[in-house]
Order: sequence, then C-alpha cells, then structure tokens
Amino acid sequence: MISYSLAGKAALITGSSRGIGYAIGRRLAQAGCDVALVGRNESAVKAAAETLLPLGVRSVGLAADIGKTAEAQAVPRRVVDLFGRLDILVNNAGMSIRTPALEVTEDLWDKTLDTNLKGMFFCSQSAASHMVKQGVGSIVNIGSVQSFVAQRNQAPYDASKGGVVMLTKVLATEWARYGIRVNCVAPGSIRTEINRDYLSRPENLQKNLSMIPLGRIGDPEDVAGMAAFLCTEDASYITGATILVDGGWTLE
Ligand SMILES: NC(=O)c1ccc[n+]([C@@H]2O[C@H](COP(=O)([O-])OP(=O)(O)OC[C@H]3O[C@@H](n4cnc5c(N)ncnc54)[C@H](OP(=O)(O)O)[C@@H]3O)[C@@H](O)[C@H]2O)c1
Repeated sequence: MISYSLAGKAALITGSSRGIGYAIGRRLAQAGCDVALVGRNESAVKAAAETLLPLGVRSVGLAADIGKTAEAQAVPRRVVDLFGRLDILVNNAGMSIRTPALEVTEDLWDKTLDTNLKGMFFCSQSAASHMVKQGVGSIVNIGSVQSFVAQRNQAPYDASKGGVVMLTKVLATEWARYGIRVNCVAPGSIRTEINRDYLSRPENLQKNLSMIPLGRIGDPEDVAGMAAFLCTEDASYITGATILVDGGWTLE
C-alpha cells in the first residue's frame, strides 16, 4: 500500500521490459503516473507496457538501445511527444557479463560503459532539457553495491557503476538550480534475469546469502519502492544521494 500520488506526472524508465525496471514502472503506475517503458526487444517491452494499462494510467512500450547515444537522446523526446511532459526519468538499463579482467575485450568494455554510463548521461541530458523548461524533475539512476565494493570478473561493470554514483552527484549539483533532483539507488543481490545463471549455482547463492545480514536475496519490488519514493514530494529535500538497498551487504 502506498500513500503518495504521482497522478498527472509522466515517467520514463529505461531497461524496463522485465526485472527491476519493470517493477519500478509498475510502482510508479500504481501511484497514478503515466509510464513509458524502454527495452531493445520491441515486442517484449510493448507486452510489458500493456500489463500496466489495468492500473488506469497511460502506459507505452518503446524500443530503444540506450547503449546507442542517438537512441538514448531520442527517448525522452518521444515521451514528451506522447505524454506532453516528462517529470521522472529512471536510468535503469544495464548489462553485466562476467569476464576475468585479463580477458576483457575493447568491445565488452565499450558495450558495458556505453549502456551503463554513457547512455545514462545522454538520456539524462536530453530529459533534463525538457525538465528545465518545466522547472521541476526527478532523475533516479540505478547503481549497485558494486559502485562501492569490487567483485572479481566484473571490471567494466564495477567501473561503470562506480561512475554512476559520481555522475549522480555532479548532475545533482548542476541541475538543482532548475528544480531537478538527481539521486541513485544502489541495489544488492536482486533476483532477476541478469544474475539468473549465477544464482542458479548453489555455491554462488550461498556465497551471496552469507554476505547479506537480512538473510535473503532481494526482489525487484524492494528496489522499486525506494526508486518511486525518491520521485515523490516526500523526497523533495533529497538530491545527489545514493541509497543502498542491499539487505545490509555493504555493512561488514
Ligand atoms: N539484479 C541485481 O542483482 C542487480 C544488482 C545491482 C544493480 N542492478 C542493476 O539494476 C538494473 C536492472 O537490472 P536487472 O537485474 O533488472 O536486469 P534484467 O532483468 O536483465 O533486465 C534488464 C532490462 O534492461 C533492458 N536492457 C538491457 N540493455 C538495454 C539497452 N542497451 N537498452 C535498453 N534496454 C536495455 C532489458 O531488455 P532488452 O534485453 O529487451 O533490452 C531488460 O528490460 C541494471 O542497471 C543493473 O546493473 C541489478
């Protein structure tokens, strides 16, 4: 049960045909917000958007690859064309391919950084150009515990997620004067497609569980609640912050 309303607002959530992004889209729609979901697979993202229509909001699925700068820049404009405004951007699209650092190719480095960090910047820049005109806006970037804690075989991913925290801070400082707040949610181990193979191995599951004081792997909804809260009036004095949603992973 949520107590706030985002009725009349419009949100763009990247990487939202499934997993954490979809859960965030659903939580925002439950609060009355119109939502635009984004993914590379057009039929999947359109199907995901349709499932939110019964909540009584406008919900559209847009195909775009956030790792391609022109597409990352275009999606906020498409949302403004569709909904007439853009109040909320959740930069959630991300990828991770576990590879020992000695074997990381330039292609893997570029794909990871282009999706997780460069796309986040250019999508934010494009969205902010509309939010500046409105005089208000909220941007939420999805980081990771790996913004703070290194994991082996994840050099490009960890570098990108470290960058997400600093990008959040610099955009928050620059755009506060326009009424735009920029925050980051850093999830711990959340059960989604991105880590399905990894967590399917009992030794990996046990390793992760042993790091989590709350004793369970997280659900996408655990992250969605915090991301949505940061877009509400209750969070109007919060900017530049990174909130860990990790069951205590980073405490010890
Ligand atoms: N799950 C975790 O444990 C965890 C922990 C910390 C942080 N995170 C972060 O949370 C975010 C979401 O992860 P998830 O676990 O929900 O992953 P997921 O289940 O694999 O979902 C990823 C979503 O992003 C879309 N996507 C991927 N690359 C994209 C691109 N280049 N352009 C547009 N859409 C793209 C995918 O759809 P298409 O494939 O159709 O494009 C899908 O909808 C990521 O930034 C991830 O790093 C996850």
